[in-house]
Amino acid sequence: MSLAIIILAAGQGKRMQSRLPKVLHTLAGKPLLEHVINAAQALKPQAIFVIYGHEGLQVQTQLQHLNVTWVEQQQQLGTGHAVAQALPFINTDQTLVLVGDAPLITAQTLHHLTQQTSANNLGIVTVNTPTPTGLGRIVRNSQKKVTAIVEEKDATEKQKQIQEINSGIILAPTHQLKSWLPALKNNNQQQEYYLTDIVAMAVAENIEITTVEASTPEEVQGINDRLQLAQLERHYQHQQSKQLLLNGVTLLDPQRLDIRGELTCASDVIIDINVIIEGKVTIETGCYIGPHTILRDVTLGKNVQIKSHSIIETATIADGCILGPFARIRPGTQLANDVHVGNFVEIKNSTIAAKSKINHLSYIGDATIGQNVNIGAGTITCNYDGANKHQTIIEDEVFVGSNSALIAPITIGKAATIGAGSTLNRNVPSESLTLNRAETRTVSNWKRPTKK
Ligand code: UD1
Ligand code: MG
Repeated sequence: MSLAIIILAAGQGKRMQSRLPKVLHTLAGKPLLEHVINAAQALKPQAIFVIYGHEGLQVQTQLQHLNVTWVEQQQQLGTGHAVAQALPFINTDQTLVLVGDAPLITAQTLHHLTQQTSANNLGIVTVNTPTPTGLGRIVRNSQKKVTAIVEEKDATEKQKQIQEINSGIILAPTHQLKSWLPALKNNNQQQEYYLTDIVAMAVAENIEITTVEASTPEEVQGINDRLQLAQLERHYQHQQSKQLLLNGVTLLDPQRLDIRGELTCASDVIIDINVIIEGKVTIETGCYIGPHTILRDVTLGKNVQIKSHSIIETATIADGCILGPFARIRPGTQLANDVHVGNFVEIKNSTIAAKSKINHLSYIGDATIGQNVNIGAGTITCNYDGANKHQTIIEDEVFVGSNSALIAPITIGKAATIGAGSTLNRNVPSESLTLNRAETRTVSNWKRPTKK
């Protein structure tokens, strides 16, 4: 059966009190709407339509990498009116309607809905919640069959007691939608064209209503204000932490880990407090991630130790490396096995071979460093001449004395030794000592000036 998906995202989101459109606010670092689009994509529908209204250009610009069709709803006259805007472009067997501000909907529940709802039926994702206030209630008859959805504002006191609510997610035969939507009336409290009124129309035509229950109320929780956003973020993070713990990862405090991306983490990894994971991160077994660390698009091999306050971005770190505290690893860095990078060391776009050490206060940029190299404290690769970047090559077994400036382009030959405090601007031969530094002088009987 062919499927089209409509995502409703034209509402203003006044309660966010924000210049940013509501659906661009982020959960786990990703816009709310992008979460919903990703869940929709997992169903491999024929097309995805996003209904936009307020600040539509901004939304489209930010989400232009996603393959969806944007349809404008000029005036927000209700969810039924919103769906009607896309309907002329749709000729699939079924149409699934999602809401753009409920980010945690899973592809699994949507699959379930499409599987359970047969071609001519109407399907609804519902959930039971002790806090149904504000939501549409699912009204059932004595045979437990759904007869209507009643909005909070239109509900009787008795209907308000119902704890089964409408998630806003509805699957319908497209041809039926095309006949029902033009018949919607707005004679309700909000004077809106409610999509939910199609339920009563379907019942009147003896069409079966299938309901599928979401796994938790949070899965279909819509965001209206920043309090709900913060609460849903915590819920989401808690879920991820729980999964890691159950997969054999030690979290010293499950409340103080934030995953804003995709983490693939082997067992027997220890993650200390206040760690932030962004983008795609892979961590192999035996690693330790120290407190206050940020890992963004990083792969860590086995038994890597990242000590506290390190920031590592777009890098590959092989087995046994030790980094930090206060290490800053920038994009394009590759560290081979057992490399040590200590405090206040910045490395950018560089490759460092096995067992080399850069333990203190250095800048390494655009460099290729061999094995067993020792870079002394305060060494700088001067990679930038004010206009262009240049390469530094340091071959195996080199020893660079402290406080050296290596002016690129430059090659330091194998096993060369650089005397501390040297500023070098030509290639250095291998197996030799090279240094440049002023002679040390002593002036005997030197008298310091005294105050007059
Ligand atoms: C809607 C449902 C309610 C359900 C709840 C779940 C209706 C009438 N009610 O209520 O049964 O329990 O969602 O969260 O459908 N939108 C548009 N254009 C419009 C109006 C809304 O695109 O003209 C979009 C909004 O941006 C939002 C979604 O539709 O993403 C839902 O609209 P909202 O106004 O939040 O409906 P609720 O009153 O929450
Ligand atoms: Mg809502």
